[in-house]
Amino acid sequence: MSIVVDNIGELVTNNPADGDGLLGLRHDAALVIEDGRVAWIGPSAGAPAADQRIDASGSAVLPGFVDSHAHLMFAGDRAAEFGARMAGEPYTGGGIRTTVAATRAASDDELRANAKRLVDEALRQGTTTIEIKSGYGLNVDDEARSLRLARELTTETTFLGAHVVPAGSDPDAYVKLVCTEMLEACSPYAKWIDVFCDRGAFDGDQTRAILEAGARTGLLTRVHANQLVAGPGVQLAVELDAASADHCTHLSDADITALSGSNTVATLLPGAEFSTRSPYPDARRLIDSGVTVALATDCNPGSSYTSSMPFCIALAVRDMRMTPAEAVHAATAGSARALRRDDIGRLTVGARADLIVLDAPSHLHLAYRPGVPLISTVVHNGAPQ
Ligand code: NIG
Ligand code: FE
Repeated sequence: MSIVVDNIGELVTNNPADGDGLLGLRHDAALVIEDGRVAWIGPSAGAPAADQRIDASGSAVLPGFVDSHAHLMFAGDRAAEFGARMAGEPYTGGGIRTTVAATRAASDDELRANAKRLVDEALRQGTTTIEIKSGYGLNVDDEARSLRLARELTTETTFLGAHVVPAGSDPDAYVKLVCTEMLEACSPYAKWIDVFCDRGAFDGDQTRAILEAGARTGLLTRVHANQLVAGPGVQLAVELDAASADHCTHLSDADITALSGSNTVATLLPGAEFSTRSPYPDARRLIDSGVTVALATDCNPGSSYTSSMPFCIALAVRDMRMTPAEAVHAATAGSARALRRDDIGRLTVGARADLIVLDAPSHLHLAYRPGVPLISTVVHNGAPQ
């Protein structure tokens, strides 16, 4: 079954060789989808016929957003904690334990339904690939079931047993449990391993031990790094060739230097700074130093309860001084790279047919019209949703 999308006013290919600037923009374009892949791109006037037609009517078409950082396996919410924070309380990550209690008490069906609700909410806002972490089970059975259920929704599953030390556990004994029995139970359902390396969570030595144990079982590495303080997380991520160092809110000069010569993406999560009233990461300095930057939501019930990539793009432009083109690139090609994927995050021949049609003539409108639902059509794996 083939689909032609024609009358595209502005096509974001993310391939500079295919069009103008960082986003590889083409105008008055069309593309053809066959068997879930992009099969042809060219001028709209020369578009071939296909089984089905989507008339973009002069609107912008972009790759579907790639949300490379989300914590969707949880129950309950922490609206009261948010309210207290907006009245002046600091964010410490301590509320994670509240969500752990709610998650352990929830049934499989409740966890599955809550995560599916958020995946669907994200899809309506243009997210066609989403990473899902465990991290609110924090014992062998609840971490493994979180990942088993996450696996029903995405292939990008991440074992985050090292989110915090659960209440009542000895830190050394917990790290050992994560590296042995928990890892063994979780690795069949996970692609990635992640550690919250920060004040109040895990230190550099613990993080290294956990990430190395994960790598030995074949998991790929990503790190929650430098969210609360400028600790060892970023440099450890680079040293271990992690696909991504996430948050990067507090960076030293050495952190920037390490990232800029590396294969590790800096994933910025401005929803977390928004919802914790924290200073935003220095995206300009990262980009100007040649670091690959990704944007993701960090969707979770504590520090960033948004599933909206357009909202994160708007924050990145307004509050992190990224250009609209840089923000759109970071939310598509950048976050695809943070997942070490080259089949998504771009619209070029051979790429997966994950795309969005905006109810707007250009990508600029995503930041120019914040809070407005501009995603008019989503095509996922070649199928209009
Ligand atoms: O990425 N920083 C650690 N984990 C989450 C927050 C989780 C929570 O507060 O429930 C984050 O911000
Ligand atoms: Fe996170």
